Amino acid sequence: MPKVKPELFAFLDDSKIEATLSRLYTEALKQGWSMVFHFLPKAFKMFGKGIDWKMEKESFYDDKYIPILPYQGTFLYMQARALNAKNIVEFGTSFGISTIYLAKAAKDNGGKVISTEYMPHKVKIARQNIEEAGLSEYADIWEAMLEKL
Ligand SMILES: C[S@@+](CC[C@H](N)C(=O)[O-])C[C@H]1O[C@@H](n2cnc3c(N)ncnc32)[C@H](O)[C@@H]1O
Repeated sequence: MPKVKPELFAFLDDSKIEATLSRLYTEALKQGWSMVFHFLPKAFKMFGKGIDWKMEKESFYDDKYIPILPYQGTFLYMQARALNAKNIVEFGTSFGISTIYLAKAAKDNGGKVISTEYMPHKVKIARQNIEEAGLSEYADIWEAMLEKL
């Protein structure tokens, strides 16, 4: 992940969103090494048969952001704007980074994003983060497991 610089989010033209994304990416960046050390012993498996995700300890992911990168967020925003998307659906909110990009696109398009996350504590914090960014009106976070929808 590139160094977190407010200029990365300047195109969104909103100081609250810029501040929230800067804070969230700074937190996510701190988790980089624990992710590397977690996956390093599994590197051979990853490029071979693949990881058996059912064997993964779910608790490891409790506090992990695993976010899209800023340039991917830029792409998401631009794509949603180019399509003039008004009804946006996302699976996997985590702590709300990608949802913030989509909610801003929804706001600018006159629409809304619905995102889902099955971990209740992530849903709670994502809603707080989205509120901090001033985008609550444009994002609904459903506490739901995709398979059960
Ligand atoms: C890679 S992270 C998403 C990162 C987020 N989109 C961002 O950019 O900040 C994946 C998230 O999806 C959630 N998740 C995984 N399987 C799910 C499912 N079946 N239904 C809902 N959420 C799920 C996980 O708990 C995790 O928080």
